[in-house]
Amino acid sequence: MTAQNSSQVEIVNRIVFKLREQGIAHLKLDDVPMSNRRTIHNEGKELLNFSSCNYVGLEADERLKRAAIEAIERYGTQYYCVRAYTSLNYYQELEHQMKQIFGFPAVVMPTTMLGHLSCLPSLVGSEDAVILDHQVHTSVQMTVKILKSNGVHTEMIRHNRMDYLESRILKLRNEYKKIWYLADGVYSMYGNIAPMGDLYQLMQRYEQFHLYIDDSHGMSWTGKHGSGTVLDGMPFHPHLVLVTSLGKAFGASGGVAVFHDQATKDLVMNTGSPLIFTGPLQPATLGAAVASAKIHLSDEILDLQNRLKSKIDYFEEKAKSLQLPIISKDNTPIFFLGVSRFEVACKLVKALLDAGFFAGMACYPSVPYNNTGVRFMVTLNHTESDFDNLLETVAALLPDILVSENFSMEQIWKAFSKDSAAVKSVEAG
Ligand SMILES: Cc1ncc(COP(=O)(O)O)c(C=O)c1O
Repeated sequence: MTAQNSSQVEIVNRIVFKLREQGIAHLKLDDVPMSNRRTIHNEGKELLNFSSCNYVGLEADERLKRAAIEAIERYGTQYYCVRAYTSLNYYQELEHQMKQIFGFPAVVMPTTMLGHLSCLPSLVGSEDAVILDHQVHTSVQMTVKILKSNGVHTEMIRHNRMDYLESRILKLRNEYKKIWYLADGVYSMYGNIAPMGDLYQLMQRYEQFHLYIDDSHGMSWTGKHGSGTVLDGMPFHPHLVLVTSLGKAFGASGGVAVFHDQATKDLVMNTGSPLIFTGPLQPATLGAAVASAKIHLSDEILDLQNRLKSKIDYFEEKAKSLQLPIISKDNTPIFFLGVSRFEVACKLVKALLDAGFFAGMACYPSVPYNNTGVRFMVTLNHTESDFDNLLETVAALLPDILVSENFSMEQIWKAFSKDSAAVKSVEAG
C-alpha cells in the first residue's frame, strides 16, 4: 500500500467510525420479514426506508421469488463451476433475453464490478488512453488501477464536462490508438445523468473515441424494455460498451455487459479474468433474473416506469415547494439533498432516524468533503404521503441543525453553486 493509499484508508476508517458511533451507519436490521419493502426495522423501531435501489419494486415480486425457489429445487443452492468449463442453461436463456432487451450481444456477469474487471483489461490496450469522469463509480476507478499497471495512460476530467472532453480527445488523438471515456449513466450520488446526446455526437465525430458507461442506476426504470438511461438517450453506437446491474431495480443480482458486435462479446467471454477464474451466479439468482427479464420484455415494465416517474415528479415538486436544497436535476429516482458540511448531514440523518426515517449519508470519499449530503431514493413502494412526511420533517429539522452548526442555507447553495468546482457539472449536466 502506498503512503497516499494508507492515509486515504485512515481517513475513510475514521469517517465510518464516526458514523457508526452516532448510530447512522452499519445499522443491523431486526429479524422482521420485509413484506412491504417500504420499511425496515432497527432496534425495535420501524423506519421508512429511503436507501433502497428497489426502484420499480421487483425485489419482492412473487414471480421472482417463485422462480428463485424453483431454481434451487432443480439445481441446489450453488453450481460452482467456472463458466469457461460449464454453465447452467439459465445463462443461455438470460443472455438471450438480454439481447432482446438491449438489442445487442450481452454477457451476464457475477456482479457489475466484476463486469468492469472482465471488460476493461480485455478491451483497453497499452496503446490506448483512458479519460475518467470525476464522478465515475468507484468500481470503475478501482479497475482503472489495473489498466494503469498495464501501462495505459489515464486522466480524469471534471464531471460531465463535454467541452473538456472534446479538447482532450483533440490533444490525445495523435498519440493514442483509442481514447476511452469512462462514465456512469446515472451518477449514484447526485442522481444526475451523463449527457448522452453529446457523447453520441463525439463518437460520431471522432473515429478514435470510445464510450464505456456504467448504467447500474439507470436500469429498469427507464428505456425500452427497461434498458436504461443510456439507450434512452442514444442509439447503440459501434464504439459503445454498456455495463449495467441486474441487482438494484432489476431485482435479482449480478451485472451485464453489452457490446455492439459478437466479436467483442467473444473477446470478453474468452479473456475476462472473472469469467475464467471466478464462480457463476447462484441458481436462485439466475432463476429470479430470468423471471425479471420476462417482466422487462412485457408491457408491464411500461406501467411500472410510468408509475415511478409520477412518484419522482411528485417528490421533486414537493421538495421544490419546501425550498429544500435538492441538487439533483435530472428526474431520476435518486435525490441528493445538499448540506455541504459533514456535521450537518450527520445531525440530519440522526434526527431523521429518531423521527422514523432512514436515509443514507452521501459523504467523502463518494463526494468531495464539502459537498456532503443526504441521499433519498424514490421507489414504487413509497406513497405520496411518505414523501410529504419525509420532506416536511426535513424542512422542519434543517433550520435548527444549521443554526446549531453555525451554517446557513445560503452557504449550502454557495457550496453547490456553479462556481463550486466539485459540482460545477451537476448544473452543466
Ligand atoms: C454505478 C455503480 N456501479 C457499480 C456498482 C457495483 O455494483 P455490483 O454490486 O453489482 O458490483 C454500484 C453499486 O452501488 C454502482 O452504484
